[in-house]
Amino acid sequence: MDERVLEKYIPMESLTGEPAAEAETGRKLYVETYGCQMNFADTEIVNGIMGKNGYDITENIDDSAIILINTCSIREMAEARVLQRLTEIKKYKKKNPKLVVGIIGCMAERLKRDLITKKGVVDLVLGPDEYRKLPSLIDNLIDTGEKGIAVKLSRVETYDDILPIRKEGISAWLSIMRGCDKFCSFCVVPYTRGRERSRPLEGVVNEIVKLEQEGFRDVTLLGQNVNSYRSESHDFSDLLASCAIAAPGLRIRFTTSHPQDLSLKLIETIAKHDNLCKYIHLPVQSGSDRVLELMKRSYTVEHYMSIMQSIKSILPDVSLSTDIISGFCTETEEDHKMTLDIMREVKYDGAYMFKYSPREKTKAWQMEDDVDEETKTRRLMEIVELQRDISEEKNRQTVGREYEVIIEGISKKSDKMLFGRTDGNKTVIIPVNGAKPGDRVMVKVTKANSATLFGEAIPVN
Ligand code: 5AD
Ligand code: SF4
Repeated sequence: MDERVLEKYIPMESLTGEPAAEAETGRKLYVETYGCQMNFADTEIVNGIMGKNGYDITENIDDSAIILINTCSIREMAEARVLQRLTEIKKYKKKNPKLVVGIIGCMAERLKRDLITKKGVVDLVLGPDEYRKLPSLIDNLIDTGEKGIAVKLSRVETYDDILPIRKEGISAWLSIMRGCDKFCSFCVVPYTRGRERSRPLEGVVNEIVKLEQEGFRDVTLLGQNVNSYRSESHDFSDLLASCAIAAPGLRIRFTTSHPQDLSLKLIETIAKHDNLCKYIHLPVQSGSDRVLELMKRSYTVEHYMSIMQSIKSILPDVSLSTDIISGFCTETEEDHKMTLDIMREVKYDGAYMFKYSPREKTKAWQMEDDVDEETKTRRLMEIVELQRDISEEKNRQTVGREYEVIIEGISKKSDKMLFGRTDGNKTVIIPVNGAKPGDRVMVKVTKANSATLFGEAIPVN
C-alpha cells in the first residue's frame, strides 16, 4: 500500500446536501491522514462516527475545534513526519488553548500513553479498534479536562454498521477486513492493527451497491491480506464474485494480497467477471529465498513465480504491481541482484519500493540491521531505476492499443486535458472532449512514459 500524505475533508453539508443540524461552533472536526489506504478508509469511518454524533467535518484546520491525526507506523519516516507535524500543531494550540488534539491509528496503538506524556500537545490517543469511543472521550475531556486514551485491540471490531463519510468522487475505498495474522518479521502491522477479522459478506455487498448508487465508478476492496477473508463458508473469491454481480456498473479492484493465500479460484473469478479489474498487487518483498525465509514470508521465489505464471496465463492482459524492501537484515549483493532478477522476470507494471526500517516488537527487531544506510539507498535506487525502465517498456507496449478509460477529472497539469484510469490502474491523459468525471471513454493510446499513457478518445459510432 502506498503512503500518501494528508487528506482533507469537505464540510458535511456539501457531502450530505443538508446542513449538519446539531453542529455548532466548537464541534468542528479536522482529520489529517497519513499512511496506507486502510488509514484513509478508517478516516472515513471516523468521520462517519463523528458525523453521527453531531460533529461537523471541516477541511480548514484554522476553523477546527478538534484536530485528529490518523497515523502510520510502518516505517520510521512515517512516524517522524507525524512527530514533526505535531510541533507545527502546537502553534494552533497556543492560539486556541481549548483546541483538542488527538492521535489516532497505528502510532497511537504503538506509542500509547507516551504520546500524551512526552508530547504535551496531545489530548487524546486512540488505537484503530477504539474509534467508537471518540465522542465520549472528547466529551469527557471537555467536561473534566481529563486526557483520553483507548488502545485496546479487538478480535471482533469491523465497524460493519458504521456508514463512512466519503468525499464525493469516482473512486472509493471499501474496507472488508481488519488486522493481520501473517507476522512477517519486518512488519509492525499485526501489533498495531491486531488479529485478522472479516466483515460479513452481506455488509460489504450492501455497501458496494450503495457506492454504485451514489455515483462511484471504481471501488477498491481493502484489507491487509484480502485473500484470507472469511465470512461463514465464503472466501474472498466468493465475496468478489458477489460484489461483481451486485454492482455491475462498478470497476472493482482489491489490495493487498499475500502470495501464500492467492488461490487459482481467485484468478478464475477475476477472469469470469468483466467488472473485476485485471490488476493484481502481489508484494514479493525480495527475490532471494534466503531473505524471504528471514522475512517469514512463507513462500519461495519458485512458488511466487508459479502464481505469476498462473495469473499471466489465465489473465493475459493483467497489470501487476508489487512491494519491495531493500536492505533487509543480512541482505548481500547477491540477494539484491536476485531481487532485480525477479523484477526483470515478472515485469511489473508498477512497484512500491522501500528501504528496510527496523520496527520495535517485530521479529526482525532482534536481528542486526546490518546493511548500512548508503548501501540500502544505493540498492533502493537501483530497484527504482530498473522499475522505471520496466514501467516505461510496459507502458510503451500499450501505444496503438485501445482501452476503456473512466474519466476522473481535469488534469492537474493542463485544463485542456482530462485524466482517467484504465482497468489495469494506469493513468491516461486525453484532450478535453466533453466527457465528464465518471464517463467511460474508449481511448487509443498514442504515446506513453513510465508513469502515464497519453491518447485520444475514439469517437463512438
Ligand atoms: N521497512 C520497510 N518497509 C516495510 N514494509 C512493511 N514493513 C516495513 C519495514 N519495516 C513495506 C512492505 C509492505 C508495505 C506495505 O510496506 O513492502 O508490503
Ligand atoms: Fe505486514 Fe506481512 Fe501482514 Fe502485510 S502480510 S501487513 S507485510 S505482516
